[in-house]
Amino acid sequence: MSMLTRIEAALERHFVLTQTYSAPPRLLMAMRHAVFPGGARIRPQLCLAVAKACGEDDPALTDAAAIAIELLHCASLVHDDLPCFDDADLRRGKVTVHKQFGEPLALLTGDALIVMAYQVLARSGRQHPARLVELLATISDGVGAPDGIVAGQAWECESRVELGQYQRAKTGALFVAATMGGALAAGVDAQPWRALGDTLGEAYQVADDIRDVMLQAHELGKPAGQDAQHSRPSAAADLGLKGALDYFQNLVQAAMDSVPACESRTAMRQLVLMESERLVPPSACELIASQHATAPVRANA
Ligand code: IPE
Ligand code: IPE
Ligand code: MG
Ligand code: MG
Repeated sequence: MSMLTRIEAALERHFVLTQTYSAPPRLLMAMRHAVFPGGARIRPQLCLAVAKACGEDDPALTDAAAIAIELLHCASLVHDDLPCFDDADLRRGKVTVHKQFGEPLALLTGDALIVMAYQVLARSGRQHPARLVELLATISDGVGAPDGIVAGQAWECESRVELGQYQRAKTGALFVAATMGGALAAGVDAQPWRALGDTLGEAYQVADDIRDVMLQAHELGKPAGQDAQHSRPSAAADLGLKGALDYFQNLVQAAMDSVPACESRTAMRQLVLMESERLVPPSACELIASQHATAPVRANA
């Protein structure tokens, strides 16, 4: 079974348990809208790949870790799109949850998905309670304060922000939860997998900043030009497109180098490379390089 098939099946299994007759139907519809169909599902794929590399022995627990992380990611997107954050009307090529169901249900959908992530973990961790405790701590670090998604989003409310700290919290922290979560679900030391999540997560956000400038809404499946419109800290704005691309490529190399010695090292490095080329294809790299080469030299440079 491919990783994507496994992820969709596990998500569907846990959703079915939420669909009781006592539940408000529009809330359930909004939750489904937020999760299906998915985007790249990169975080749960990473979690499964690391668990496999670590010799997973409890696939239900691995699935739970991967699914919990994806549900938390989906929740963060629902909240991120709300008018009080990015006020976006398009996500994954569809209208956003608040546009379709209204703001109160969008807020509750995000809340419900966050809680569902922990319900999924609680349901699947009985065989290995010690692993469950570690998973709860690590996944919570990826989403909460002081260094997780909540902190990352909160940096947007400060007058001074350090770009790397903002991006590691907003995006990197959940990637760290994904790589370390895969190892923890397999019952092995997770520390060797921290650097992969850290570097790949930051690379992912730098790529998102580049794509926000270079692509159109119909290519992104979400509004373009958002960082400039909302004056968000962005690698493209701070470093220019060429500087951001160099930074991205260094992070991808660091991510590949960080993969610990294991039987799947080559496959893991390949996954990182393929994902980086999906995000910023070679044609985009060439375009950025050629624009940089022909950029006029400033008089006071
Ligand atoms: C979007 O994440 C938000 C960022 C942190 C860049 P993804 O690009 O992983 O979104 P989906 O899940 O594929 O839609
Ligand atoms: C979203 O960041 C990351 C979250 C933690 C939700 P952005 O606002 O930069 O991502 P997109 O471009 O809307 O996906
Ligand atoms: Mg945002
Ligand atoms: Mg946004």
